[in-house]
Amino acid sequence: MSDVRNMLEDRLPGLHGRIEKELTEAEAHYNKQAGQVPSEFLLDHTRRTAAIAYKISTLENEDPFLPTLVALYHDAGKFHGGEYHSDDMPEEKHAAVMAGAMLGEFGLDEASISAVLEALRALYDDNLLLVGPCRIVQDADQLDKLGALAVEATRTAKTRIRKNYLE
Ligand SMILES: [Fe+2]
Repeated sequence: MSDVRNMLEDRLPGLHGRIEKELTEAEAHYNKQAGQVPSEFLLDHTRRTAAIAYKISTLENEDPFLPTLVALYHDAGKFHGGEYHSDDMPEEKHAAVMAGAMLGEFGLDEASISAVLEALRALYDDNLLLVGPCRIVQDADQLDKLGALAVEATRTAKTRIRKNYLE
């Protein structure tokens, strides 16, 4: 995770912290609206996905900059307006709106902003090819989800074994 932060601090100082702040506030807002206990699932998942995207990129000899940016924004529209999927707009579209504005504010060049937005679009539009940063982020996202499922499956199996054979 420090690789991600270091790379972004080097190229777009302050952006990493700003994205994390947005993610944290969006989830806190949603939890409050929904009467749920505080959580940081979105931030944690995003951090892991960005770290995995960084790793995949370096293993494939790709520049991790764009895939990591896409990963940091890929779920940023999940709690848009403090609600979960409250309108017909795909969450990735909300994420793209946020990314476009923020990346412009931080002075990223137009070509890179377009590449990030295109990758975010390809995450929900089946007519677009999953290539480049988008493919890497989709793999990273799936790998992180698989990790969570594997942890849960292991926990369930251990509980069953304990109940059925040890108690
Ligand atoms: Fe995700």
